[in-house]
Amino acid sequence: MAIFAANFKCNLTRAQTKAYIEGLESYVSRTQSVGKREVFVFPNQAALLENTYGFVRVGAQNAHCVENGGFTGEIGAQQLREFGIDSILIGHSERRTIFGESQEYIAQKFAYFAKAGFRIIYCIGEDLAVRQNGSVEEFLRSEFRGIDTKYENLIVAYEPIWAIGTGVSASLEDIEHTHKFLRSFLDVPLLYGGSVNETNAGEILYLANVDGVLVGSASLELTRFCEIIESKATSDTAESK
Ligand code: 13P
Repeated sequence: MAIFAANFKCNLTRAQTKAYIEGLESYVSRTQSVGKREVFVFPNQAALLENTYGFVRVGAQNAHCVENGGFTGEIGAQQLREFGIDSILIGHSERRTIFGESQEYIAQKFAYFAKAGFRIIYCIGEDLAVRQNGSVEEFLRSEFRGIDTKYENLIVAYEPIWAIGTGVSASLEDIEHTHKFLRSFLDVPLLYGGSVNETNAGEILYLANVDGVLVGSASLELTRFCEIIESKATSDTAESK
């Protein structure tokens, strides 16, 4: 089972998102290895759609850890429930760095949505300084502070910050090495994210301990995201892992 997740971030309108997801649903339903793939789309919050598709799962990029209340600009579990949404990204580096989410707050969010039974794609990843000073493993471990790594609906996405939105993904060696480290203490699906595209997805998905990809920019065009999903078939036909 490979996991393909599209993170639209602050892109696409509601109408564009709807047309995209309908197209994606049709593509996934037509391809033969449907059962071997799990496909998520995380639209912009203003473009949330009901999570009622047969193959594509619509999830939330973010929410506050609350049912509802006086939290201007936020959405809570009540609003997500109305859309039938039961999966969420937590810990994305853009939330951590641009919006200042602390590990403590992220851990609170994690506990809240885990209690609610959500599928959580928990994102981690170091910046360039950490990579260069050789403390990647220690840093990544610190991003699990307060996180229940045994949570049954957990997926972890390793997204090195220096590879996000740069057009240059981490090298295959770096991905393989870091995922091997993560596998040493995580028994959950492991995704890689950071400049994944239709050209590099196949070789990334072929690596040991890579169970899927979390895609930003290259997911914004339906044909490109479908090619990324298709690239798994190509890596499947190569020698099995
Ligand atoms: P890019 O694919 O644009 O590098 O973004 C990755 C990401 O942040 C997905 O969550």
